[in-house]
Parts: sequence; structure tokens; C-alpha cells
Amino acid sequence: MKALKYSISLGGLGLIGASMTLAGAQDFQPRMGEPVRGLSTAELSDFAEGRIEFDTLLTAQEGLGPIFNDTSCAQCHSSPVSGGFGNRVVTRFGKKATPGVPFDPLAHLGGSLLQSSLIDGFDPEFYGDKIPAEADVIIHRLTPQSFGIGLIEAIPDAQILANVGSSPNVNGTVRWVTPFEGGAMTPSRFGWKGGIATVLSFSADASVMELGLTNRIFPNDNAPQGDAALLAILDAAPDPEDTIQANGKERIDRQTDFQRFLAAPPQTPKSGMTGELLFNQVGCADCHVSTYTTGNSPFASLANKVIQPYSDFLLHDMGDPDQGGLGDGIVDGIATESMMFTRALWGMNQRSGLLHDGRATGAGFAGNVDVAVDWHRGDAEFARVNYQALSAGDRQKIVDFLQSLGRPEFDWDSNNRIDVFDWFFLEPFFQGPAVSNVTPDDLAAVADVDQDGDLDLVDFLVFQRAYTN
Ligand code: HEC
Ligand code: HEC
Repeated sequence: MKALKYSISLGGLGLIGASMTLAGAQDFQPRMGEPVRGLSTAELSDFAEGRIEFDTLLTAQEGLGPIFNDTSCAQCHSSPVSGGFGNRVVTRFGKKATPGVPFDPLAHLGGSLLQSSLIDGFDPEFYGDKIPAEADVIIHRLTPQSFGIGLIEAIPDAQILANVGSSPNVNGTVRWVTPFEGGAMTPSRFGWKGGIATVLSFSADASVMELGLTNRIFPNDNAPQGDAALLAILDAAPDPEDTIQANGKERIDRQTDFQRFLAAPPQTPKSGMTGELLFNQVGCADCHVSTYTTGNSPFASLANKVIQPYSDFLLHDMGDPDQGGLGDGIVDGIATESMMFTRALWGMNQRSGLLHDGRATGAGFAGNVDVAVDWHRGDAEFARVNYQALSAGDRQKIVDFLQSLGRPEFDWDSNNRIDVFDWFFLEPFFQGPAVSNVTPDDLAAVADVDQDGDLDLVDFLVFQRAYTN
């Protein structure tokens, strides 16, 4: 710890001379944006190289556009670091179902995803993608984080299938999909409507849909307004635009290397908060299922790991949007207008807008959670009612628990940094076993790494390594 100004008085801990084994048995969890522990040297270098690709702005010469939403993955997935969530939304549109006529994604007019930007040199009024006049469903989707998604990919199918019918209160549906790169059908894991099962599928799909980069999996550019003649004028580059680079990998694979090896968001304290018991009691955990153990994986550091993403990875009817429900009105595969895919809650701590369009925002962490729960309708109605019947104190305990999802050890002020401010608040609690008594519900528990109920030298030694300033 190079610059720690407030040097701890070791005598005050009452631990001096104790023959303690202070070895590295205790370790802090990776922070957001760090790789999973235990990668090989080659994998670590793939991760680092992949992050560069994830961040690098694509140019029109390299295949950007002609229509696109942004110029790199990290332009949207930016917070608090690359791979994270973003306040950027994308727009989806379509035409509502009427009796006898199903929902129409208006694909022939460029739907259902709007590409809001156009490469330079052309008049966007004429050549750009547009929301057609026919559209009467126009909605936003917020950028989710992607920490830990390689671990979610490695969850065995059977564990997701076991969530169906596991609670009599809810009625979740598996969304089976074939990975875009090929392979056996598997329950989907990603997206606000589900629909995507693997990290590579998402990389290939987002490359063409968000950046306009055609690739071996999606070799065709999106036509502005669905008009192939406009596309022909704009797009001279031969497809696929993503080709093997000097290092032997395509961009979609390098982006995948980065996202696949992103560590799970930390959770501190790791277990035992009263708020989680209440979360389970009122029925939140019927959908936000906490724990999985990953299966076999070609990557040893992703295999057989216990993870806590807090999702059942199923579709639920969250209420008809025309009746004040949370569904987004878009039909996507088997996901109806009312259905949404349970959002994994890990990493929530750093979020500033909640729900698929970020509508729960601006009210502070606790206020945003209250608004998000208030929008839980349909299949989640019972849990909303139970939550709202709790005392304010008990609701706060659930909020405190949700705030622990994504928080690294020692991060008292939840800003994703371990600095002198955290130490300022934590120092008084470092009293050693004789004096301190820290329960998992106390904020000071963020520093009780070994969860033995006190803040002592063992925890302090970990603090020294976690300290970033
Ligand atoms: C214009 C903003 C934007 C850009 C650029 C962007 N994304 Fe996203 N990303 C989103 C949004 C919005 C979603 C939610 C999409 C949905 O479910 O409808 C998303 C979802 C994801 C998810 C799923 C996360 C989950 O758990 O559901 C992954 C993985 C992902 N993006 C990867 C990428 C990659 C790789 C790139 C670069 C090729 C990229 N994104 C570029 C906005 C963006
Ligand atoms: C029937 C299943 C179900 C139940 C029960 C449920 N949720 Fe959800 N939850 C969802 C779905 C689906 C979403 C995604 C909503 C969307 O698309 O906007 C979600 C989203 C959320 C979000 C927003 C996450 C984000 O990143 O934007 C929070 C917070 C949340 N739930 C908390 C709770 C709490 C607290 C409870 C218990 C009171 C609960 N949920 C009960 C299915 C459920």
C-alpha cells in the first residue's frame, strides 16, 4: 500500500505478538472489469487484447456502418469500466398486433432495431435509418453490464431447466435457442427478452447490429429503412468486413475473449445479510435465483465455479404494457409483448437506471429499487405486493442487500474504489477480536473479509492489497 496516509496503530489492535498465520488464505474478490482468477498466461493476454478491441473505435474503412448505433462496444458498455452497463439506450419499434394480425417488427422497413447513425458523406434525411410512420410501438432498451457472462454461459442447461416449476408462485418459460455460431439448442441466457445463449453469439450479433460490422456469422449489413437500393449506394465494402487480423483472430472473437473472461461482479458481504432472507421470503428469489455451479468448460478457470447471478434465466409475463404492465410491447421469438427475461441482479450496486428502459432512475439507489419493484406486475405481482407490505425498515434491509451486489470488499461509499475515504470510515471499526462486533448487516462488514465478526489484522492485510487510492 504505497500511499496510505492514515497508518494503522497496530498496538491498538491488541494483536501484536499473536502467532497468527496471516497467509493469503483470505483474498478479496476481483473488482468489476477484472479477469476471472486463475487464467493461464495465454488467456490473460487474450483478455487484455480483447479489451483493446472492445474499446477501439471502428472506422468506416474497417467496416463501420453504413448505419450503426455507435463505434465500439465500450462506447455503450462503459460504466464503471469497459464491459459494464451504460445509460445509453437503443430504440426498438414495431406495429402492434390487431385481431387476426400478429405483431409486425417492420423488418421490411428496417425494424425492429433502429440504427440511429449514418457514415459521413451522406444525407441522413434521405439515406439514414428511420422509425417508420407505421410504427406504433417505440421503446428503449438500456445497456446492461456483461461482467461474469462467461460464467453464465458455462451454467449447465439442467440447472436452468430445473427452475421451471420450482416455485408454485411463478410461471417461467425457457427460451431455447440455437447459438448463431452453430451447436446444440440450449436455454438462452442474455438480453432483456432472452434470445441469445453464448458470448460469441452476442459479439457477432452486436457487431453487425450496433456497429454495422459484418462478420462470418452475420455476413449482411442492415439496409437503412429496409431499402436494399439505399444500402447498395452506401456500402461498397466487401462482406464480411471482419477478417482475420495480424494476431490470427477476428474482432468478434477478440471481443468474446474479453467478455468471456470478465470476472463475476463482487458481492460484499458474501453471505448472510438479513435483507437476503427477506428477499427470499417475499418471493423475489422465485425468479432472481441466487446460486449456480458452472459445469465443464474448455476454460479451466470458468469450470465448476459457484456463482450468484440472481436470475432464473427464464421469460416471465411481467404485465401487458397497454394495461400498465412492464412488458415492452415487442414480440421476439417466443417472447410475447408482455414477457421479459429475468435480469441477473449481480453488479446492481453501480447501476443508476433500472429496468429494461431505465425508467427507474433519479431517485437514489433505494428509491430506484422501490420504483423498479413497483413496476413488477403479471407473474411478479405477488412479490410486489409482499414487498410493499413490508415495514420501511425491512424494505431498507432488502435495499441494503441489493447494494451489496457488485460491491467490492472495503468499499464503504460504494464508488467502486478502495481509497482513503473508505479508510476514514473504516478505521474506527478496526478494533480486533476483543472489542469489535460486526454483523453482516453493519456497513463495516464490508471490511470483514474472513467474516469472523470483527475487523482485525487479517482483514487489514487484505485491505492493504485491495487499496487502490
Ligand atoms: C449503442 C449501444 C451499444 C453498443 C455499441 C453495444 N451494445 Fe451491447 N447492449 C446494448 C443494449 C441496449 C443491450 C440490451 C439489448 C437487448 O437485450 O435488447 C446490450 C446487451 C449486450 C449483451 C448482453 C448482456 C446481458 O446480460 O443481457 C452483451 C453480451 C453485449 N451487449 C455485448 C456487446 C458487444 C460485444 C458489443 C460490441 C460489438 C456491444 N455489446 C455493443 C447496447 C450496446
Ligand atoms: C416473476 C419473476 C420476478 C419476480 C418474482 C421478481 N422479479 Fe425482479 N425482475 C424480473 C424481470 C423479468 C426483470 C426485468 C424487467 C425489465 O425487463 O424491465 C426484473 C428486474 C428487476 C430489477 C431491475 C434490475 C436491473 O438491472 O434493471 C430489480 C431491482 C428487481 N427485479 C428486483 C426485484 C425484487 C426486489 C423482487 C422482489 C420484491 C423481484 N425483483 C421479484 C422478474 C422478477
